[in-house]
Amino acid sequence: MDASSSRSDWWKTGVVYQVYPRSFADSNADGLGDLAGIIEHLDHLDGAGPGSLGIDAIWLSPIYPSPDFDFGYDVSDYVGVDLRYGTLADFERLVAACHGRGIKVILDLVLNHSSHLHPWFQASRSGRTGPYADWYIWADSPGRTLLGRPRPPNNWRSWFGGSAWQWDDGRGQFYLHGFMPEQPDLNWRNPDVRKALLDVVRTWLGRGVDGFRLDVFNLYLKDAALRSNPRRIGRRGAWSWQRHVNDRNQPELEDLLIEIRGLVDAEPGRMTVGELFDSSIGHGAAYSAPHHLVFDFLFTTVPWSAAAFRAAIATREAAFGPKRWPANVLSNHDQPRHASRNDVSGGSGVGGVGDARAKVAAAMLLTLRGTAFLYYGEEIAQRNLVVPNAEAFDPPARRAGLFFRWWNRDQARGPMAWRPEPGGGFTTGKPWLPLPPDVDVRNVAAQSQDAESVLSYYRRALRLRREMPALNSGAQEPVEPGDPDVVAYVRRTEGQAALILLNFASRPAAVRVPAAAAGGTWRVSLSTHPRGPDEALGGSATLAPLEALIAAQA
Ligand code: NOJ
Repeated sequence: MDASSSRSDWWKTGVVYQVYPRSFADSNADGLGDLAGIIEHLDHLDGAGPGSLGIDAIWLSPIYPSPDFDFGYDVSDYVGVDLRYGTLADFERLVAACHGRGIKVILDLVLNHSSHLHPWFQASRSGRTGPYADWYIWADSPGRTLLGRPRPPNNWRSWFGGSAWQWDDGRGQFYLHGFMPEQPDLNWRNPDVRKALLDVVRTWLGRGVDGFRLDVFNLYLKDAALRSNPRRIGRRGAWSWQRHVNDRNQPELEDLLIEIRGLVDAEPGRMTVGELFDSSIGHGAAYSAPHHLVFDFLFTTVPWSAAAFRAAIATREAAFGPKRWPANVLSNHDQPRHASRNDVSGGSGVGGVGDARAKVAAAMLLTLRGTAFLYYGEEIAQRNLVVPNAEAFDPPARRAGLFFRWWNRDQARGPMAWRPEPGGGFTTGKPWLPLPPDVDVRNVAAQSQDAESVLSYYRRALRLRREMPALNSGAQEPVEPGDPDVVAYVRRTEGQAALILLNFASRPAAVRVPAAAAGGTWRVSLSTHPRGPDEALGGSATLAPLEALIAAQA
């Protein structure tokens, strides 16, 4: 078991690897990834050997039975495993195999809404009386539109386009759906619902999981009186024409989060990371107290520029302050992959400028104060697929049009590229999404053979992060490097300091090196470029184009 994941605060010092189960590894040739496939690839993740990444935890995107109206984020049985991914016994094997290697297992809980096919919703929509009648958010229509249709109860919008209210003929009422109409919102204000959902948390904890990623947790509670959001003008898109003050972030949420955290904290070493939905970084920082961690996503929106990242880092540090612990993330299943986002030419090949930028981004992600989250494939700088909306599986992409713009999320969900062979080592069947077009040259096997690959860099940087307390738990101070294209900071614990210099430019950069404390010397621990072993840094240094350098104080 590796040193950091055995600590109860591993969720601060550690690194979490997000597996999108459908696309990671297919063990039974049906073209979909599955749990057995993940088990077969644990060597890639486990910290034991030099050929492994050495992460502390895996987070599995939803594995529950789902009719896939939002690819698992519409759950029809909260305590089951979708047969396409395996059985509960497979899940238990996965947990045991992970725990045997010191890897924690984090599940994705989708508790704001269920599938419309969940028996709770089926019962709820069957009539206005009965035990499940108030398990979802139902409301009468206040009247008719000019076209004679029932008018929705208020102005709330669905994130996936259109009104958040869907008319149900059976009940003669609307129900709320913050996402697809097939994802009705649960009524957390009903004590029976609250109990049932907290029982879901208990069930999975009882099965040995180490924590949860809580999907859109800040939407759980809405204004009890269902008041419309105040209007706002001057922004693009109907979503932005209102201030979302009544459909999220309600004051009572804090107590609920404290209750969930209490269940999770009943044993040490467990955690939650809340997915903050479309809210300010101030909300993210505030919610990190009743949570352990909160995703705020600021870094997923920052363009490739040192100035932009410096500003984003300063904004987050100011919001979180020294006591709260951020979660750092560059890519996930909802966003364009950052290797594509940052690859200006949009197609530089293996070892090109896009890969050099991917290494700088990795150095930053793994050395900034906070827990690092990796998205499967980013360790080989896997790129977005090109999937036009017309061929999309992603449900909102299929609804996209002139009045509702949407990025097709299939593009970030491509099969993992393991080996240069038909099926890419992902499947021996027909993959559910196309393989990345460069799978023959960009894959785990090829990059394992190449000491200069993005994968080899991730492995080295992850090892350094594990070994250096300054990197995994130190405080952080910005440094003025004297070149606008360089981001620089120092991480410091009582006994150790690390200096990080990141050249975002494709030209050399002359930087000032801050004085090391108490007459010490900065010595290079890791660089993306050739440097002498333990090279000492004087008062100034020249960084190569797109060089990321990590030095330790000796
Ligand atoms: C956030 C998830 O990350 C996303 O994939 C999903 O569509 C929505 N929540 C709704 O569950």
